[in-house]
Amino acid sequence: MNWVVETFSASVGKKLLMAVTGLGFIGFIIVHLLGNLTLFAGREAFTAYVEKLHEYELLIIVAEVGLFLLAVIHVATGFILFFSNRSARTVRYAVKKSGSRRIVGPSIIMPYTGVVILVFVFLHLWNFSFADLTDRTMYDVVTATFSSAIYVAIYVVAVAAVGLHVQHGFWSLFQSLGLNHDKYMPALQTLSIALGVVVGVGFALIPVYIGLSV
Ligand code: HEM
Repeated sequence: MNWVVETFSASVGKKLLMAVTGLGFIGFIIVHLLGNLTLFAGREAFTAYVEKLHEYELLIIVAEVGLFLLAVIHVATGFILFFSNRSARTVRYAVKKSGSRRIVGPSIIMPYTGVVILVFVFLHLWNFSFADLTDRTMYDVVTATFSSAIYVAIYVVAVAAVGLHVQHGFWSLFQSLGLNHDKYMPALQTLSIALGVVVGVGFALIPVYIGLSV
């Protein structure tokens, strides 16, 4: 049991926790994006998707509890790593170390995009998950939200942060899991960028499309 405590107290253990919980989020985000894209097929298709989803009540509760636990672990560990890195670094890096394989630039913005996403998720749950559906459907709620240009702008900025966070998170989780063979790094980097762009642009298309069509 001692090794478990020791592993997760060490920085490498915390990075491992970030990697595993982050991977869980990436899975959720891809499934959520695919489901949300049914909005482009119109009211009936999106309503059918939401109704189908709600047929699996137990599965939804399990997923929500899982997401909540992942969020608590990911956010708490992220804060701990951020503050311990800050206090350990007496001299701040002025430039990227030459010859280093680590990309310092994108990793620097991770805590900031993370905080933007955290704030966004609270707003997002209030917008949709806790919306009153007594005399309207989820389609009405989503279209009403994105009929506001301010909400369209907020969502576009937030999902851009999600895209950036996913891009760097996906790349660095391979480092944390020790799967960073030199041979695969260029392909992995391209894949991370592609994933970040698909997530950022895919989610942004929804508020922009609805905002322009209502
Ligand atoms: C911008 C496009 C997005 C749209 C249109 C959208 C739409 C929705 C809708 C309609 C729900 C409620 C589902 C239901 O209870 O029936 C929901 C829930 C949720 N969304 Fe999104 N979403 C978007 C982006 C995101 C992003 C980028 C994230 C993650 C960072 C996210 C995370 C969540 C979470 C955690 C829930 C709660 C899931 C649950 O209660 O089971 N969403 N979203």
